[in-house]
Amino acid sequence: MSIAEKFVAMEYGPAPEDSKDALAWLDHHQRRFGHFVHGAWVKPSAGQYFDTADPSTGEKLASVGQGSAADIDAAVNAARAAFPKWQALTPHVRARYLYALARQVQKHSRRLAVLETMDNGKPIRESRDIDIPLVARHFYYHAGWAQLLPQEFPNYTACGVVGQIIPWNFPLLMLAWKIAPALATGNTVVLKPAEFTPLTALAFAEICHEIGLPAGVVNIVTGDGSTGEALVQHPDVDKIAFTGSTEVGRAIRSSTAQSHKRLSLELGGKSPFIVFEDADLDSAVEGLVDGIWLNQGQVCCAGSRLLMQESIVEPLIAKIRARMSTLRVGPPLDKAIDIGAIVARVQLDRIQRLVDQGVADGATCWQPPMEMPSRGLYFPPTLLSNVHPTSIVAQQEIFGPVLAAMTFRTPSEAVELANNTVYGLAACVWSESINVALDIAAQLKAGVVWVNCTNLFDASCGFGGYRESGYGREGGREGLLEYLEPAWFKNATALPAAKPGPEASSDETESATPVLDIDRTVKLYIGGKQARPDSGYSMAVRSKSGQLIGEVGRGNRKDIRNAVEAARKASGWARSTAHNRAQILYYMAENLSQRRGEIEHRLGAAVGEPQAAAEVNASIERIFSYAAWTDKFEGAVHNPPLRSIAIAMNEPIGTVGVICPREAPLLGFLSLVMPAIAAGNTAIVVPSETYPLITGDLYQLFDTSDLPGGVVNIVTGYASELLKTLAEHDDVDAVWCFADEASASAAKSFSTGNLKQVFTNEGRVIDWFDVKQGEGRWFLQHATQVKNIWVPYGE
Ligand code: NAI
Repeated sequence: MSIAEKFVAMEYGPAPEDSKDALAWLDHHQRRFGHFVHGAWVKPSAGQYFDTADPSTGEKLASVGQGSAADIDAAVNAARAAFPKWQALTPHVRARYLYALARQVQKHSRRLAVLETMDNGKPIRESRDIDIPLVARHFYYHAGWAQLLPQEFPNYTACGVVGQIIPWNFPLLMLAWKIAPALATGNTVVLKPAEFTPLTALAFAEICHEIGLPAGVVNIVTGDGSTGEALVQHPDVDKIAFTGSTEVGRAIRSSTAQSHKRLSLELGGKSPFIVFEDADLDSAVEGLVDGIWLNQGQVCCAGSRLLMQESIVEPLIAKIRARMSTLRVGPPLDKAIDIGAIVARVQLDRIQRLVDQGVADGATCWQPPMEMPSRGLYFPPTLLSNVHPTSIVAQQEIFGPVLAAMTFRTPSEAVELANNTVYGLAACVWSESINVALDIAAQLKAGVVWVNCTNLFDASCGFGGYRESGYGREGGREGLLEYLEPAWFKNATALPAAKPGPEASSDETESATPVLDIDRTVKLYIGGKQARPDSGYSMAVRSKSGQLIGEVGRGNRKDIRNAVEAARKASGWARSTAHNRAQILYYMAENLSQRRGEIEHRLGAAVGEPQAAAEVNASIERIFSYAAWTDKFEGAVHNPPLRSIAIAMNEPIGTVGVICPREAPLLGFLSLVMPAIAAGNTAIVVPSETYPLITGDLYQLFDTSDLPGGVVNIVTGYASELLKTLAEHDDVDAVWCFADEASASAAKSFSTGNLKQVFTNEGRVIDWFDVKQGEGRWFLQHATQVKNIWVPYGE
């Protein structure tokens, strides 16, 4: 073909990226890798290896070690041994190591990009222009945090040894998201890459060696799920950070419940891509190309559910089809390829199976006519329309280049459809009206909302999910907190095990006549009203010396369910202004202050007069503190290196179930409930078993302070009976359990079902009178989740 003919045809010629350097690197290692432990390559202890192959050709690239429990043990020991020295380095020295990692990643960027593409199948355009630059950016950004750590996070300390497990879709980027914040905060690491894509992690191990990172600070053990499991179960690991499927995330959550391991989970998604009729349709279609066809759709935050306003369905679908027809599927090392290979056969089969199921459910499948490569694992860009919102393809993560399209009529219907999923990772909103877009963004249950853009990432902006997309954030200030703990908390002692509830006393049949002059029977408090317990039973409350001082209702599952319903109905609290919430809290403090004498007197019977006086005093202050915090625990505006701002909002989590500490019945209650409601949550609270009669004083306080009904609901009873219902309830979004160790474990185990967030004292003593321990940001951070709303600007 002559140049003139080519100019007319405008056909692409092959434009392959040179793979020589990456292949030479593999050859230099004899195409065989052990694990990277204590700064050196070690052979897998069981002598087993497995192959990693190029999914675009099927050719073997190298064999890597299959990590055993013994290999994990060696790596954890190396990380443990390295921890004290690494943590004790000055912030500046640690910052220099992170800076050196960033520099070295940049120096080897082309090799890393080629290796990534060969191992994973993603287009070189993406690994070269997106993955690797973001990896470097992550290390630069966190070098900065390492430097500023003591100033910005005083009184916090590293978790210790961190186990990190990553998936195959962004292998080196996920490594960077995990390792950079962990090192910046002074932790040491054992990382297990995904079995399909271990090569760039091994290249990174070499980079750690090249820059002279102290031995043991970063350890890489390759292997499959069983290697990951060994890491999760290792007793000397302080924290697990996981990215991958919701199914494995749930298994990890369940298997760490009996331990003190911190956990952050970045799981699946089924993110809505909402296009309103006033959107710039051409831009939205380009957004879709990045939203669902980036990395063959193997992206946890892929915009896989297209929600179109009814009036624009025809033109939009026509534009999407036209654009899909121009996408080029082929060898990922070709620089002009849009869609590369699917990572593995099992994933390809899974995509096909789900698409078939979608069609069986009634969807219409459209794929552009195109020639597919004759070998390798490829799947064409696919549009499923007429998808019913309950169809499997509208609900399950497909993790492939498959878009499921649905329609809506009104903005509120769009929100309802968008939130009709167990996930909550990301969402896109396309509208030329910024008012509409931001109004919708606020209503979406997702950790990231992209307005008129999609799949933008930056180290300064936290990334992570709501609901079953996991919890914890990666990136930003909030990402660092996942690797830090309050120093006092790390050293706190264990509470003695509490006697199990109902068995501890046989008082149900005993005379209820109070011995003291206080004739008291206190009901539950649900939806702003006093309620009799469903069981018809009461439980006796005793003074310090064992005398009967009153009775409270013995709540059961039904009462908890009623309380949850009341709490959900009060969700308008989240939308009230922070100023209004603060006013109500101040009013509570005022009312408590006025009634201090009588409350002290009654509480004194249970905890002794001196403690009662101290509790009431500290409680007034505590309410004041949270009234102050209500309009000051604010988000941030990030300026990522793009023409965009990202608005980080601290949003309430929703409905929080609270098990109060036995000690300090009044102060403990308020120390937990005030931060929860200050942040806009509603609560179902099980008060201290030591003195649940406090409920009577509290509901008078709430009623006289204009707290809307349902914002705080109190169910008295035995925590050991009520915790299970609270933690298992799907409409409870978080459980806070401040009791002994067994209760903390139970809270984690019971709440595995919908992966709700759990905040506990890990069975440790908290001095509620000490402001440093009993109030402040630590509680507010657990009462909120960050949503990042990206808003681009300019033409
Ligand atoms: P996966 O969740 O099984 O694998 C992710 C990582 O976890 C890998 O390193 C794996 O070796 C490890 N792992 C597996 N089982 C483990 C266990 N019991 N304990 C500890 N670690 C374990 O994901 P998989 O099977 O590769 O992909 C299946 C589906 O998961 C995909 O089709 C996709 O829907 C979803 N997925 C979601 C990702 C995300 O970023 N949200 C990433 C990868 C997969």
